[in-house]
Amino acid sequence: MSTPAAEALRAEVIALEGSHLRDLLADPVRCDALRFTHGDLVVDLARQRVTRATLSRLLALARERAVPEQVAAMFAGEPINGTEGRPVLHVALRAPDPEARPEVLAVRDQIYRFSQAIRGGGLRGATGRPLTDTVAIGIGGSYLGPEFLHEALRTDPTAAAGAVGRRLRFLANVDPIDVHRALEGLDPETTLVIVVSKTFTTAETLLNARTVRRWIVDRLGEGAVARHMVAVSTALEKVAAFGIDPQNAFGFWDWVGGRYSATSAVGLLPLALQYGEPVARALLAGAHDLDAHFRSAPLEQNLPVLLGLVGVWNTTFLGHGSRAFLPYCQALHRLPAHLQQVSMESNGKGVDRTGRPVQEVGPIEFGEPGTNGQHSFYQLLHQGRVVPCDFVGFRRSQRPLSFADEAVGNHDELMANFFAQPDALAVGRTADELVLAGVPASLVPHKIFLGNRPSSVWLLETCDAFNIGRLLALVEHRTAVEGFVWGVNSFDQWGVELGKVLGVKVRDQLAASRSGDPEIRGFNPSTTALLRRYLG
Ligand code: F6P
Repeated sequence: MSTPAAEALRAEVIALEGSHLRDLLADPVRCDALRFTHGDLVVDLARQRVTRATLSRLLALARERAVPEQVAAMFAGEPINGTEGRPVLHVALRAPDPEARPEVLAVRDQIYRFSQAIRGGGLRGATGRPLTDTVAIGIGGSYLGPEFLHEALRTDPTAAAGAVGRRLRFLANVDPIDVHRALEGLDPETTLVIVVSKTFTTAETLLNARTVRRWIVDRLGEGAVARHMVAVSTALEKVAAFGIDPQNAFGFWDWVGGRYSATSAVGLLPLALQYGEPVARALLAGAHDLDAHFRSAPLEQNLPVLLGLVGVWNTTFLGHGSRAFLPYCQALHRLPAHLQQVSMESNGKGVDRTGRPVQEVGPIEFGEPGTNGQHSFYQLLHQGRVVPCDFVGFRRSQRPLSFADEAVGNHDELMANFFAQPDALAVGRTADELVLAGVPASLVPHKIFLGNRPSSVWLLETCDAFNIGRLLALVEHRTAVEGFVWGVNSFDQWGVELGKVLGVKVRDQLAASRSGDPEIRGFNPSTTALLRRYLG
């Protein structure tokens, strides 16, 4: 990027070299200026290596890179996914009923009617037993978002009350172990299977769907398929060709990217089945709340814009190639996995929208709930590489616990860590402090914490359906903002193609070898030797 704001930001990197977050954090005016809110949702950027001047320059960069225009184009349904010629309209999936597109409303109604019928026992399995269990078969965006949402809702008291007597499982991996795990303890008579695939061509999903179809047919006969299998897809003709009754198909559209599809039927159907319509509606309302904020809040107060700009600052200007997502909430344990796809499949690109090479975009994302991560990789965060972190916490637990003989409740214990870790990363510990504390000289270098390590702190009220929806939209829109600034197409994924093509070639070889062909053809010597070893 060589715009005036980008040049100013490069100068800013040099100017900031002598500064330390320890000192920046001591300034109350700066701290107040870098704390942002949307309703009761707080995002604190005081532990980012920015001053108010840096932030103004980042906002200038956003304007130079036409972020407001790109956000407007996205909401207007312009085909901003240029390489596929498609609009990017997942926000339309969350529009309130009176504003929703007719086709969105129709599928939503279909989902709510169907889930009510299954949950209420009006629709039953082939032998007349209620369908109490759901297996959702899908991979990538047809799995990760829904699984994150399911796991996040599972222990929310309201959602849990709606799920009594029901089970929801996911089958993603083509690994037969995943088939075993997904079906373990389930009875085909009481199981509804949802095959979820945007394209309905994904090899793993189709093999898993055929496998589970056999599991149903072996026990209940061919005629049971219509009552036990439904599909979610944009390719309804392929659903029919697979043998699922189009009456049992829930559609979505090309303008919903796979990794942005959690609030389409992809996520809404399994979640409405498991938790009921009110919870599904609350989730959509939360996502819409954040969508509306993203669309209309001024750049200076726009949370996805500010977080995206800080992401660009850390990645492109400060040169940090990775980012950690650290929810202090066990219910969010699958959000890092979902975020990996949303961020890395979107912005892990080598060229910009016009095909010119780009560098230093798309950080490597990873994460784990706190405090578990603290006892794992935080060593590296504190003393190894500098990894910008996102700390996410809640004022109230989904499941508070307190005991008269404990000084603080379990949630306070968790949150004590949540507040301590960002400060430890930012402030560090000097050699002088260690010497003063009586640390032996030989240990001083090992116990130094350089500090000055950036993080954002996101604080929400409680992990309920509404806030889970907001979090989903917040990470989606941050990713979009980063992509808008970097000038990449955050909505295509050509990088997944080559491996798939080579996978088919190996699969064909395995099929030939398994049927007696002694030759292994067309592979390099290393792969040939490995295949020989595998085939035995
Ligand atoms: O291979 C990557 C990908 O295309 C993802 O983008 C997508 O979420 C996933 O595969 C599953 O695709 P589908 O929903 O079409 O089965």
